[in-house]
Amino acid sequence: MNINVSMRTVAVVETGSLMNMGKFVDEFRNYKDSDRQAIVERHYRLMRANQTVEFHEKMQKYWGTFNRAQLSRYVDSSDPDSSLPNLEHMLQTAEAIRAAGHPDWFQLVGLLHDMGKIQYLWGKACDGQQGTADGDQWALGGDTWVVGCAIPDTAVFPQFNALNPDMQDERYNIPNGMYQEHCGLANLKFAWGHDEYMYQMLVFNKATIPEEGLAMIRYHSCYPWHNKGEYHQFMTDDDWELLDWVLEFNKFDLYTKADKRPDVAALWPYYQSLIDKYMPGKLWW
Ligand SMILES: [Fe+2]
Ligand SMILES: [Fe+2]
Repeated sequence: MNINVSMRTVAVVETGSLMNMGKFVDEFRNYKDSDRQAIVERHYRLMRANQTVEFHEKMQKYWGTFNRAQLSRYVDSSDPDSSLPNLEHMLQTAEAIRAAGHPDWFQLVGLLHDMGKIQYLWGKACDGQQGTADGDQWALGGDTWVVGCAIPDTAVFPQFNALNPDMQDERYNIPNGMYQEHCGLANLKFAWGHDEYMYQMLVFNKATIPEEGLAMIRYHSCYPWHNKGEYHQFMTDDDWELLDWVLEFNKFDLYTKADKRPDVAALWPYYQSLIDKYMPGKLWW
């Protein structure tokens, strides 16, 4: 079935009690004692215990069909930094990228980068894809890692690494695991989430966003790679250039999560024009 999903439907946002104030830089990515600690810790325990090579392949098979549609609201339980629905975060990110003078495709990446969380509409609770704020989201969001090789201790909540069944499997629990050195990032399988789904959706729909932009979307949650220096043994020369772009993107993703609300209605026509330019017509989800 070919369904026209207007990106305008993203503009259905949740109103509620939101703090209208900024945050200091050292208050971000607090995985020790934020006021959402219990929710975040539970998220990562489940994510680490369930995201295996087998699970990735199952999700790839399920989601790779792109024959679904629709969208409404979303709050991310893997994230200690924001109580905002995701559209506002995506617009904040896009606006910060625009204000920094980056090109329009980069701004569009800011708008789209978390859209893959739309999987919650068609995902199953048992697969960690409930979209509710207190429901399981361990295959929608959160920091990812490469499945099929040893999970690094630099991942958040490394105390949960041993819960991963693949870490008892001698094919996967060694540094290179199932991969060849310098096989390229594009050939790695990551813990399944919004990044990989959105990347594949854009490729499927033949979006004309440049490769650097697609890399920002595909890899932005892999903090062990872009923030902790892991997985270098798998990288090609081209991947090092993509790393620079992902790092540039991540500044905007992280530090725009302070709860200051963007004016969705006023901003939308501009972003619709970017959608029309880089991903026109009917989109498959
Ligand atoms: Fe994200
Ligand atoms: Fe984000």
